[in-house]
Amino acid sequence: MESISSLLQEHRIFNPSKEFSQNANIGSMESYASMRQIANLDPLTHWNEQANKIHWFSKWETILDWKYPHAQWFKEGYTNAAFNCLDIHKNTPTMQKTALLWEREDGLRQSLTYEELHSKVCLLANALKSIGIVKGNVITIYMGMNPEAIIAMLACARIGAVHNVVFGGFSSDALRDRINDSSSVCIITQNATLRRGASIPLLTSVEQAVKECPTVQSIICKDAINIESPLIQDWDTILLNQNDICEAEHLESEHPLFFLYTSGSTGKPKGLVHTTGGYLTHVRYSFEMVFDPKPNDIYFCSADIGWITGHSYVVYGPLMHGMTILIYEGALNHPHPGRIWELIASYGATILYTAPTAIRSFMGVGNHIPEQYALDSLRLLGTVGEPINPEAWMWYHEVIGKSRCPIVDTWWQTETGGIMIAPVPGAVPTKPGTATLPLPGILADVIKKNGESCQENEGGYLTITYPWPGMARTIFGDGERYKSVYWSEFPPNELHQGMYFTGDGARKDEDGYFWIMGRVDDVVNVSGHRLGTAEIESALVSHPAIAEAAVVARPDEIKGNVLIAFVTVIQQKDMDLSTLENELKQHVAKEIGALAKPEEIRFTSSLPKTRSGKIMRRLLRELVSHGTISGDTTTLEDFSALEQLRPDEE
Ligand code: WTA
Repeated sequence: MESISSLLQEHRIFNPSKEFSQNANIGSMESYASMRQIANLDPLTHWNEQANKIHWFSKWETILDWKYPHAQWFKEGYTNAAFNCLDIHKNTPTMQKTALLWEREDGLRQSLTYEELHSKVCLLANALKSIGIVKGNVITIYMGMNPEAIIAMLACARIGAVHNVVFGGFSSDALRDRINDSSSVCIITQNATLRRGASIPLLTSVEQAVKECPTVQSIICKDAINIESPLIQDWDTILLNQNDICEAEHLESEHPLFFLYTSGSTGKPKGLVHTTGGYLTHVRYSFEMVFDPKPNDIYFCSADIGWITGHSYVVYGPLMHGMTILIYEGALNHPHPGRIWELIASYGATILYTAPTAIRSFMGVGNHIPEQYALDSLRLLGTVGEPINPEAWMWYHEVIGKSRCPIVDTWWQTETGGIMIAPVPGAVPTKPGTATLPLPGILADVIKKNGESCQENEGGYLTITYPWPGMARTIFGDGERYKSVYWSEFPPNELHQGMYFTGDGARKDEDGYFWIMGRVDDVVNVSGHRLGTAEIESALVSHPAIAEAAVVARPDEIKGNVLIAFVTVIQQKDMDLSTLENELKQHVAKEIGALAKPEEIRFTSSLPKTRSGKIMRRLLRELVSHGTISGDTTTLEDFSALEQLRPDEE
């Protein structure tokens, strides 16, 4: 990759305010730098100290057992994630504090104290046991963003069942594949969730999916109506006769806590496996460093629990810190464009953690919308999921944070389990557009293809050069793929023990700050959702009219990227292309979910390929971004294909 011209560099620097620093856990660059130096010189001692801050039934002997590419952290220790979120608060004032504040799009609300949450988790955990669920069973959770979804996760964790949350926006086909790949024996769902005023029938999708899921033995459904299938049990009914005392299972540190499917550069989604002790250690630590929690915080993270952010920073991180968590079921700009700001004002939220896509879309509707609401309760703002452009950063800073609140731009991935690169808000000065520095104890670098570190401001591959406790342990059922995708680019040599390849491009500036430049593989970020182009291509070619498909991203002001699909059709007489275009979009929505629908479909008689037959996606990317092709096209088999791919001249 080329080095970036110095003209592109950001010169605005924002120091933490005195007021914020004075009350912060780490309140100066000096104390931060010394912590980072000590942690980075001896990461194992650092993580050992951090692991001691969670609860263990019995302690470990080995901090890290690293056998490339497999890590085991704190392996002889025994712990439990639900215990660390709930029981640790027993006999403290937190037990009577509000744990969850929930509001739905239509205004329905509920709140639960830690004590109430604890009791509900135990009821469901006992219910799961009563239907024969045992430690190690996998349970798929397919729900909207509500307390029951969180209760379901924690109930699984309590008894050592492995949760596999599937985002409620995925279609029944995508759900079926994730249930089957994970060999789930049980599904927890709800009748329907609300989004933009529409009722999304989740149970119907589950019923459709399980027709082809031989491992599923039971379905628990919140608000079930007219149950016909003997597989389905109503949530309230099954909880009715349960005891609300349920001992938390003592689980090995490396016992799997959850699977979470994510897109990769081939068609099949990967079920990343996260385990217990190391994950909890990393998530507890990173939450403390990045969000600087205070007892009176009202913490609002807008992520859905179907994504990793919902796991680590809606559920596990905040609950371990005894936070009051605000969750919202629905679209943040529905029923009116100021809904998110209304929520913040009415609950007095102090921390907001959201995605750049959301920020850009709020920015697009005009400042007069947020200006109608009192946002002075906010003290800290966060972003995650994709690079934030400096313009959106400045808007977030000025219009929402009133130039008072630090912004924590957090870089991490489903695979990393927790935040890796982010400013520690009381100490690290920020610059719009960079996630700044790796957290103390996290060793990251920008590397050239030959494995050498890049120079200052030279673009390269973002890598993590030393294991960390929250790392995914493997891809469920496919250890080979885990090794080849993440650990084969930079295998062990005389200088290091193997480096983790993130799939992102980045550069480090003169202050050592990391600027993330986006994916270097065929993974695309659309509205902060991660999608593999190969998955969408395979959905397109499964349509009977389509012979070949190539999907690429086009940068978009609001969504970050949109998807453009190039397809060749199997010739059929009298085919109406605009009808086919709509049909194909619906087909992708059915196969994967509405989030994966291409923005545009371009029909062509052939796709540009290399002599060895590979589709030249780079050319297609250039074509959709700039309308022209530059660079070397000498390996191209058929130039004429390019001509047909240009959009019609206006
Ligand atoms: C991108 C989400 C720039 C990146 C937690 C990464 C980011 C992918 C940032 C992971 C950020 C996430 N700045 N890019 N602050 N945060 N990304 O697995 O490309 O859904 O590899 O995890 O999102 O997406 P995932």
